[in-house]
Amino acid sequence: MVNAYILGIESSCDETAAAVVRSGEQLISNVVASQFATHKPFGGVVPELASREHLRAIVPVVRQALAEADQTYKSVDAIAVTQGPGLAGALLVGISYAKALAFALDKPLIAVNHLEGHIHAVLLEERQKGNHELQFPVLALVVSGGHTHLYLAERKNESWAYENIGHTRDDAAGEAFDKVAKLLGLGYPGGPIIDRLAPHGDANVVKFPPAQIKHPDRRNRGGGKEMEGERPRFDFSYSGIKTAVLRYIERHNMQSAIEARRRALAGIPKPKVEDFIANCDRQTLDLVASFQRAMVSDLVGRTLAAARACDVATLFVTGGVAANNELRTAFERQSAQEGLPVFFPSRPLSTDNAAMIAAAAYPKFLAKDFAPLDFSAEASLALR
Ligand code: KG4
Ligand code: ZN
Repeated sequence: MVNAYILGIESSCDETAAAVVRSGEQLISNVVASQFATHKPFGGVVPELASREHLRAIVPVVRQALAEADQTYKSVDAIAVTQGPGLAGALLVGISYAKALAFALDKPLIAVNHLEGHIHAVLLEERQKGNHELQFPVLALVVSGGHTHLYLAERKNESWAYENIGHTRDDAAGEAFDKVAKLLGLGYPGGPIIDRLAPHGDANVVKFPPAQIKHPDRRNRGGGKEMEGERPRFDFSYSGIKTAVLRYIERHNMQSAIEARRRALAGIPKPKVEDFIANCDRQTLDLVASFQRAMVSDLVGRTLAAARACDVATLFVTGGVAANNELRTAFERQSAQEGLPVFFPSRPLSTDNAAMIAAAAYPKFLAKDFAPLDFSAEASLALR
């Protein structure tokens, strides 16, 4: 093993992050500056504000990550940065800074796909625990605010190859959490709030019909074929459940209570779970619990169907939504029933961070797969 200290930089969405990871297996420092307060009044990420905040935060965040790792700009062996997918303007802040550092310090520059980063968050922590014996093939569910994607991951010598076998046709799962929280006047980001509120409601009260995916995905190459080669696809769809929540709200005349809640919570600087509960009636708590149950059973059901069909040996669940308690418990229980080992990142490495970028860069460092100084951000970069 080559000993390499890699500085990772991540700025694809609303977190400015930097980290130092040694040889893809030891997290040395991990700094994340969240833009939560900037975007909160708008109920979602505002791309222009995200770029501005990244510009403000990037230098101090990188300095802090180096200082906490007892490293300097000169001592690190390479600089890794997220190339995409993500917000173009936000990505460019990280990329421009990484390029400037690589050029000025004469260090190798490594471009990393954000989704590959989420997968390597799991690998980093498993290696750190001493688990070097993962069985292949691996199926990875990357489930976040922008993605609900299934990848088969294989290691070929030091490098990795990925095959996408499913993705959301419309909203990502995290987006559905965020939109439903917004509809209910619960604020932003919705995932963590719904996660904490759901145990206080009855998940059996509201029945959501399972998402039907009838039509072949026409965006998905192959002239509308459901099969890619011989492999069936395992797609997701979450815009229907969001609309079903909206209809429920309308049918049950919940709008004025929602407006009152929105105003009350906006007046509390950092609302705690007790504040949310105090501002939610039983009907709302039951709706939240039922929504989360439906999301979890759909995510787990479709992922395990894909795992069975592809006869995988190991399952990874990663990305912001992988922080969800009910999702973790359901995956652990149902995977165990099928004898399938399932791995998650720790909660801090489930959501966006730069440690996962530095970890994913290590195999590329070994393969000398370096990025030219003129590479650019790719908002819709695919993972292969
Ligand atoms: O991976 P991530 O930090 O950023 C993207 O790449 O999108 O994921 C953020 C998403 C948001 O939609 C957020 O609401 C969701 O992950 N999320 C959660 C939880 N924590 C974050 N969703 C459900 N339960 C959680 N505990
Ligand atoms: Zn992410």
